[in-house]
Amino acid sequence: MLQRIVKPLLLLVLLTLVQRTYATEGMWLPQLLSNLNEKEMKGMGMKINASDIYNINKGSLKDAIVSFGGFCTAEVISSQGLLLTNHHCGYDAIQKHSSLQNNYLENGFWAKTAAEELPNPSLTATFIVRIDDVTKSALLDVKPGMSERERQSAIDKRLNDIKQTAKKEAWQEIMIKPFFEGNQYFLFVTETYKDVRLVGAPPSSIGKFGSDTDNWVWPRHTGDFSMFRIYAGKDGRPATYDKDNVPLQPKYFLPISLKGVKPDDFTMVLGFPGRTTEYLPSEGVKQTVQVLDAAKVDMRDVALKIMDGYMRKDEQIKIQYATKYASTANYWKKWMGEMQGIKQSNGIGKKLQYEAEYQKLLLTNPTWKQQYSGVLDSLNAQYRQIQPYAAARDYYSELVRNVELFAAGDRLINFLNDVHEKGEGQYESLRQQFLESMQPFYQNYNARLDHDICASLLEIYATGVPKEFTGNEFAQIRAESNNDSRILADKLYASSGLTSMDKLKAFVQQPYNTVVAQMWKDPATRLVIAMRKGFVDNISKPLSDLQSNINNLQRTYMQAQMDVMGNKKRFYPDANSTLRVTYGKVDGYSPRDAIHYDFYTYLDGVMEKYIPGDYEFDVPAKLIDLYKKKDYGRYGVNGRMPVCFIASNHTTGGNSGSPALNAYGHLVGLNFDRTWEGTMSDINYDPAICRNIMVDIRYVLFIVDKYAGCTRLIDEMKLVN
Ligand code: ARG
Ligand code: GLU
Repeated sequence: MLQRIVKPLLLLVLLTLVQRTYATEGMWLPQLLSNLNEKEMKGMGMKINASDIYNINKGSLKDAIVSFGGFCTAEVISSQGLLLTNHHCGYDAIQKHSSLQNNYLENGFWAKTAAEELPNPSLTATFIVRIDDVTKSALLDVKPGMSERERQSAIDKRLNDIKQTAKKEAWQEIMIKPFFEGNQYFLFVTETYKDVRLVGAPPSSIGKFGSDTDNWVWPRHTGDFSMFRIYAGKDGRPATYDKDNVPLQPKYFLPISLKGVKPDDFTMVLGFPGRTTEYLPSEGVKQTVQVLDAAKVDMRDVALKIMDGYMRKDEQIKIQYATKYASTANYWKKWMGEMQGIKQSNGIGKKLQYEAEYQKLLLTNPTWKQQYSGVLDSLNAQYRQIQPYAAARDYYSELVRNVELFAAGDRLINFLNDVHEKGEGQYESLRQQFLESMQPFYQNYNARLDHDICASLLEIYATGVPKEFTGNEFAQIRAESNNDSRILADKLYASSGLTSMDKLKAFVQQPYNTVVAQMWKDPATRLVIAMRKGFVDNISKPLSDLQSNINNLQRTYMQAQMDVMGNKKRFYPDANSTLRVTYGKVDGYSPRDAIHYDFYTYLDGVMEKYIPGDYEFDVPAKLIDLYKKKDYGRYGVNGRMPVCFIASNHTTGGNSGSPALNAYGHLVGLNFDRTWEGTMSDINYDPAICRNIMVDIRYVLFIVDKYAGCTRLIDEMKLVN
């Protein structure tokens, strides 16, 4: 009995001790792991070496990871170039191949033979061949006292030279990117494959199960995966699509583990995280969540409610607006989570504490004192100054983004500018191109819905942004409608020539000069021009000057933090869409009082959420059948089918499709989201509540094998136990 009590107690003590010895925050550079992270990773349970992750002399894990189209991550999982990524990453490609007869989005798609794999002309897969530190040569001509512009042009010249002389093969490319706010520069030798074919995707009722309601939410039950294949020329090199291209034989591909994970297991995620801002000063954090996120959420709140109202009443509108709704809702929800997470974790208070400590330490060293005194205060002051301009920018960009009529106006103006630049002789052909490009826009356009969004958002814009910023022309136009946004919107939609494809055709059917003259009169383009003018005249110049000051100070502050706080904190560069490694442990979390989330979900949970016929929570009959029979093959555990799990890996947008690997470097999951309470990890990672969400690889294989019967794909994978 005593034994029983003492043991768990001891374990608890040990666990808390162990927990203190590692940190899961950080998106690390793969080539620096051996110096910075290897020891800690091994302490957390990793069984391989840093040189198995990044190695330029032999195939290593990094050779199985690609940037998928530049917006997601994917990984090679067979010797035949088979790629695994998310369903939401492959979504566009799947949609483009879908029609009413062959609705692959709805029903799924499985190429039964290589010949059935579908080409995607604009889709690419980019490998990282090598990463070099080029900081010294990049900064060679930088002198103290240079303005931001002078500094940048001195660097650009150097980067150009470095690019010209860097060692690479003919089929490879060079990319150089700044890190740590421009204190360091790294060069990447890359290989981009241009023939990437669609191999398989589950129906949306699996790949997008839970849709927007479950987006950013745990517990999650989405089989968010799709499969592609990289094809190469006969020589194995990148080539554009050709039917005679052959499956790529990769330098390395990921073995797949069927063992699953347990709490406290080591996991790591390799991928291409897009953007984070972890080193903002306190004013920057405050501004991001309290002002900018809040403004954007306000605007989108209104737009989404209106869209939802129309979509619920009208089947046609539901189809037209499904994708727009999802993309507007995605970041709306993320920002709300971020606002709440910062508040709840006292993110601003923690920054202030950190800054106080930094300021104190700074004074202990004369060199630091001389180099960095006042930097943080100035930076915070600049943030205070930029605030109204940054808010105006976000109000403006949300307005133009969410009111489609303004987007149409923008596109018309750009087209006319284009003719102006290329010469009127090009009018006819550019007009054809323009009309063609607008066809899909109007196919998914509803002017009544757009009118309602316009009326509401114009009002928020006019009240949220000071008059000195929106400008006289905007004020004039509003005055003509009694400063009533609804009256203004009524006028716009009643008489603009941009509210339907037919009207647009009639509009641009006329000679060029007539169209230009009309552009100034059409109420929609007139308003778009007025708002643009207000933005350019009153916002963009001060905004970019202040931003340039901020960039300068932020760079110095970054270096200062690394110098002054280097003993207290390990620094990793903010995400910038380059290859990173992040590691953590499988772990549940407690977001609020009395709530604890478990780390695993099962197919039982899919069935609990099942709503027959619902557009978010329907479940395909065949999956229900497999569930009833518990026909899980070798993928189930104790009669249950695992679906998703969470861990403390530090990820962000762009990490979608990233592999989750176990201690041996074997694939155990596929990253696709974060938990809502933890989306603030882009600004302030808190190990207590920040979790990434992954599909269990066994669920992926179960769907491919048992649900879709696509065993040829399983056969080419390397499964390990
Ligand atoms: N939240 C995930 C990521 O940012 C998934 C987005 C796609 N899914 C959706 N239901 N909208 O991008
Ligand atoms: N769904 C995101 C993506 O598309 C990943 C989630 C996140 O932001 O962490 O990259």
